[in-house]
Amino acid sequence: MTAGGDVILSVENASRRFGGLLAVDDASMTAGRGRITGLIGPNGAGKTTLFAMISGFIEPTAGRIVFEGADIAALPPHRRAIAGIARTFQIVQPFAGLSVRDNIAVGAHLRRPGREHALARADEVGRLVGLGDKLDDPASDLTVSGRKRLELARALATDPKLLLLDEVLAGLNPSEVRDVVPVIRSIRDTGVTIVMVEHVMQAVMSLCEDIFVLAQGRIIARGGPAEVTRDPKVVEAYLGHGAAARLVAREGADHG
Ligand SMILES: Nc1ncnc2c1ncn2[C@@H]1O[C@H](COP(=O)(O)OP(=O)(O)OP(=O)(O)O)[C@@H](O)[C@H]1O
Ligand SMILES: [Mg+2]
Repeated sequence: MTAGGDVILSVENASRRFGGLLAVDDASMTAGRGRITGLIGPNGAGKTTLFAMISGFIEPTAGRIVFEGADIAALPPHRRAIAGIARTFQIVQPFAGLSVRDNIAVGAHLRRPGREHALARADEVGRLVGLGDKLDDPASDLTVSGRKRLELARALATDPKLLLLDEVLAGLNPSEVRDVVPVIRSIRDTGVTIVMVEHVMQAVMSLCEDIFVLAQGRIIARGGPAEVTRDPKVVEAYLGHGAAARLVAREGADHG
């Protein structure tokens, strides 16, 4: 577990209120360096809001965001990007008029002011995410799965230490999911820490080493994939009140 290991990110009692709604309510989570951590939970649980507080697009109303030992809650997004935090967006919006290569180079420019260097890094990252043969194409020609890869590449081109993936597998068919899962693993293998929000459970189960479950703004469970999916609180959160009891009753009936 992350608890004893090297923690790169720690969210401490973070809350975010939107008017009358407490979208994230006293949530704490950690990410172990070099690991893949999953953040799961039903629609509207507050996952994207929590990500936005980590990347700096939304300010927490309370709590601390500690990255590499320093509280970064007051830093603007670009300072966090320079510190080594990159995110993908749930709604993918590439620069449609630019080529795939130029889109990725936008990310690469964060640490490479020179055009040549940025383009070279774009090619490298493009190949890593499986867009090697599409670098010259306009981004607008990409399929949904191509756009998701581009979104990954743009974030990765900033050379992050911590990569936040917000539903990069959403909208992909099962065979596309099977193609992108190893790409995510290979990014982790280059030493990048990953925190992923994902609804595609089969991918969460195979990729994530640690999982945090958010429901109605609160972290209701944490642990390894098997542990978390067995947790009655998690079943309840996904399937509704009384679901865990109904499942147990049905299992009893099936096996009885
Ligand atoms: N900018 C905002 N202003 C007001 N309410 C917001 C804002 N952003 C999010 N919310 C609300 O906060 C709650 C949490 O939303 P959030 O997008 O973080 O959930 P999520 O877990 O990412 O959901 P999904 O799985 O559907 O992407 C929702 O009720 C949402 O309507
Ligand atoms: Mg979301």
